[in-house]
Amino acid sequence: MANDQKKFQALIAHCKEYGFIFPSSEIYDGLSAVYDYGQNGSQLKKNIRDYWWKSMTQMHENIVGIDAAIFMHPTTWKASGHVDNFSDPMIDNKDSNKRYRVDHLIEGKAEQLENEGKTTEAKVLLQQMDDLLKVNDFPGLKKLIEDQKIACSISGTVNWTDIRQFNLMFSTQLGSTTEGASEIYLRPETAQGIFVNFLNVQKTGRMKIPFGIAQTGKAFRNEIVARQFIFRMREFEQMEMQYFVRPGTELEWYAFWKAERLKWHKSLGINPERLQYHDHSKLAHYANAAVDIEYNFPIGFKEVEGIHSRTDYDLSRHQQFSGKKIQYFDNEINKNYVPCVVETSIGLDRSVLMILSEAYEEEAVPTADPTKTDIRTVMHFPAFLAPIKLAILPLLKKDGLPEIARKLMDECKSQFYCWYEEKDSIGKRYRRQDAIGTPFCVTIDHQTKEDDTVTIRYRDSLKQDRIKLGEVKDKVLKAING
Ligand code: GAP
Repeated sequence: MANDQKKFQALIAHCKEYGFIFPSSEIYDGLSAVYDYGQNGSQLKKNIRDYWWKSMTQMHENIVGIDAAIFMHPTTWKASGHVDNFSDPMIDNKDSNKRYRVDHLIEGKAEQLENEGKTTEAKVLLQQMDDLLKVNDFPGLKKLIEDQKIACSISGTVNWTDIRQFNLMFSTQLGSTTEGASEIYLRPETAQGIFVNFLNVQKTGRMKIPFGIAQTGKAFRNEIVARQFIFRMREFEQMEMQYFVRPGTELEWYAFWKAERLKWHKSLGINPERLQYHDHSKLAHYANAAVDIEYNFPIGFKEVEGIHSRTDYDLSRHQQFSGKKIQYFDNEINKNYVPCVVETSIGLDRSVLMILSEAYEEEAVPTADPTKTDIRTVMHFPAFLAPIKLAILPLLKKDGLPEIARKLMDECKSQFYCWYEEKDSIGKRYRRQDAIGTPFCVTIDHQTKEDDTVTIRYRDSLKQDRIKLGEVKDKVLKAING
């Protein structure tokens, strides 16, 4: 399904129609690369976050979780290298002195071509831009702007400076100007909140190396290419774990986490053929090994998670910039040292997009007329991730059926998410549940009153069974926990 734009657009439309994801502040025409999660999307996202948290912390005795603030002391970002190195290209017009982001300029031209009906030219232009951005080819990007005769909207001229870097961090003011406000940043990654708390956690938790610190939370980047739905956002959520190890053992632990994280992705029910490693050939100056786990989205294989062996770079830099000793005494070897770090860093929004892409299907299904089929849109979420686990549907709004259904609802709702619905035909209600990925529907009918049985309908197989009312809760619990 590489580069299946049609499927991607259908998925985006489905997400909006069924309460998964909406453009942010849509009534004001939205905000570029910012999205809101709706009633089903936020529950799906929470289920993925909870599963990651449990896999990392509860399932590993030597990994603990924290929740650090988004705002951090500004020196944090000098120490981490983000102030100097976390940037993207921009260009100025010499006549108007107006500054543009290179991607905005070229995207504007592509939009103009699109409006003129030159769709292929627009696509080629965007592809050329992406290719040049990927390799930081600034002269190539400037030439593209000149070749396309892209003019400044104010001066109308094509008199451009060379392209320079633009920092991706969002900044704001802490305190009022009269108090002498200082500039601080919205964190561009959650990892630094873990590094600056290394000693706090190690000492108060009496943690022995090797051990890990995990955290989930928002990160912010003024992204330069932001056209791919929730794949690349300006406000997004990360789930990161820093594993602190004895120097010299970091590559062994890197290999361990590389394998472990791929297993985790497979445990989400992802088809292994749609997962791959992408080893980094060009390493960041602080890393001695790095790999991405990629998923085959409808827009092709792309990064969902990065695993990096970051050496002792981060803790050493914080030691240097803070002037505080950040070291660990290893009594097994009777030595003090700055630990090395192996990082696993996964985007929660990209995980949501991966699960949505994997689950989405437009499937031909039989109808009452054997010569015809119908199309249903179904989300095949694994039961433990589905936003709603069980739909409880009385066949009619009378004859005591709603009362039996409500009783079942009361028994189940403290254990898992249920949905009660009595409107519309049963077929229409089933379809709505398929569209949001509810694995089980239970119908209460007149026979229920006679023999205490209900019809349970399975989302994926469309099979229907008659089971005892009293068995419903355990059946669903088994599927969720299994
Ligand atoms: N601490 C390391 C770090 O932040 P990264 O590769 O820049 O590394 C880690 O980001 C993960 O965060 C990525 O693999 C991706 O899933 C997610 N991510 C990064 N930028 C993103 C964005 N603009 N929108 C959505 N997710 C993003």
